Amino acid sequence: MSGPVLDVRDLWKIYGEGEATVHALRGVTLTVERGDYVAIMGSSGSGKSTLMNILGALDVPTSGAYLLDGVDVSKLADRQLALARNRLIGFIFQAFNLIPRTSAVANVELPLAYAGVRPKERRRRALEALETVGLADRARHEPNQLSGGQQQRVAVARALVTEPALLLADEPTGNLDTRSTEDVLQVFDRLSAAGRTIVLITHEPEVGARTKRLIRLVDGRIVHDVRQAALTR
Ligand SMILES: Nc1ncnc2c1ncn2[C@@H]1O[C@H](COP(=O)(O)OP(=O)(O)OP(=O)(O)O)[C@@H](O)[C@H]1O
Ligand SMILES: [Mg+2]
Repeated sequence: MSGPVLDVRDLWKIYGEGEATVHALRGVTLTVERGDYVAIMGSSGSGKSTLMNILGALDVPTSGAYLLDGVDVSKLADRQLALARNRLIGFIFQAFNLIPRTSAVANVELPLAYAGVRPKERRRRALEALETVGLADRARHEPNQLSGGQQQRVAVARALVTEPALLLADEPTGNLDTRSTEDVLQVFDRLSAAGRTIVLITHEPEVGARTKRLIRLVDGRIVHDVRQAALTR
């Protein structure tokens, strides 16, 4: 497909009612083209997680339109929505969310198993994804035998193994030290250079500085949306 990966128009998210009403998103409009690499920053309570959950089709907006890879997500029933989510989005979370006592390669294979890919093909693609994140030599290791940065790279391999239209990462370096943060950012740089579409949220200025585009949220509104030069890449 040739249209944008994300096409979001005038998204509002209102929680609660009466005195307790919170306007978490106030008219967010955003287009992300294929191959873009975007960081969303903003202070606590600015609406980052709310926006990510809607972009990831994990939550629905109060109003507004949202097209994911050309599909109008608001028109999908639950089951179709889950299928679209699995096919179109690779999630990366702050806490890695790997399955314990399960090898790296088996963790990476999991989304392919859900998608009905045959075991031999699963293994081949999982090993290829681990190679992409620089962990081919750790395929048999279990999560507790890997560093935090390595675990997060396994999680990145798991997110990209299905070849999703969008990689969506929620504070991907939030649990990592400087060194591991750098390892994970190098993987994102490489994926971006290979044409992947990446959207991440972060608190960390050095992470926001690495992307091609930086968006700032204040009180549920986009206040800055700038292209940045690859200073550190
Ligand atoms: N389920 C909910 N019910 C009511 N209000 C909510 C709910 N979830 C979030 N909010 C409110 O919406 C606003 C935006 O919250 P959100 O979690 O999106 O912020 P955030 O930018 O992710 O913050 P942080 O950096 O602390 O994670 C906040 O004022 C929050 O209190
Ligand atoms: Mg949050």
